[in-house]
Amino acid sequence: MSDASELPPLDPDVPNPARMYDYYLGGSHNFAADRATAQQVEANVPWVVAAVRANRFFLGRAVRFCVDEGVDQFLDLGSGIPTVGHVHEVAQDAAPLARVAYVDVEPVTVASATAILGGDARTTITAADMRDPDTVFDAPGVRDLLDLSRPVALLTVAVLHYLSDDDDPVALVERYRRRLAPGSMHVLSHVTGDHDPDPIAAAERVYRGTATPLTFRTRQRIEAMLAGTELVVPGMVDASQWRPQDPADAQHRGFWAGVGRIGQYRRL
Ligand SMILES: C[S@@+](CC[C@H](N)C(=O)[O-])C[C@H]1O[C@@H](n2cnc3c(N)ncnc32)[C@H](O)[C@@H]1O
Repeated sequence: MSDASELPPLDPDVPNPARMYDYYLGGSHNFAADRATAQQVEANVPWVVAAVRANRFFLGRAVRFCVDEGVDQFLDLGSGIPTVGHVHEVAQDAAPLARVAYVDVEPVTVASATAILGGDARTTITAADMRDPDTVFDAPGVRDLLDLSRPVALLTVAVLHYLSDDDDPVALVERYRRRLAPGSMHVLSHVTGDHDPDPIAAAERVYRGTATPLTFRTRQRIEAMLAGTELVVPGMVDASQWRPQDPADAQHRGFWAGVGRIGQYRRL
């Protein structure tokens, strides 16, 4: 794990989207300011909790899919708090030797993950900013855990909307994919205002007051983040519609999601 002193300072009075997300999921790793801001968003977007949960269930199904495709190593960028049903649980349930490298920039998330993971030798949490791939790949929790000569599932689930257009998320994810072996996967989800623009615009204003504002993007701009991969069936769909266990659950709820297979890049 990276040195905690490298993390941004923790201020419980400044609402943080990672902890708001934890609140929406029913978790306990959040403070009063997080809850108050999350409730403000909910007042504008009544389906936000359903959307966040649909995203989380998509994550579980996509991890299971990767294991079924023979990929048992995971690089989870913007991993959040690894509570019930998180990546290492789903992956190791399906493949006991699966390895999971979590990466997150938020101090409470990293501290909680450290406590939750305890002595699990096949799961690490690295405190790092995903905008710096060299630092991520060089971190011991990533470098010493993942064998990059074998396929890896790159997870960017509900995180790229924290990056601004100036961060150029399309180019950034390609820098990660280029380091991965053929047969690797890229699992992605991202919030959108495509289905419900007005409440989303209001939510965007609320998020501007948090530590990390959100950028809602259109389907076309999100699909561009998987350009160069082979999109697996059913392509880019609402998170709730990606291979749902119960098709009756599949509704438009606000996250575009897809999985791309990574082919033969000229690797860096
Ligand atoms: C909404 S949570 C998603 C958690 C998990 N991926 C999921 O979908 O259930 C987004 C996470 O991304 C993290 N994050 C935001 N910007 C980041 C960055 N630049 N580098 C690393 N993590 C980041 C936040 O701290 C938060 O924990």
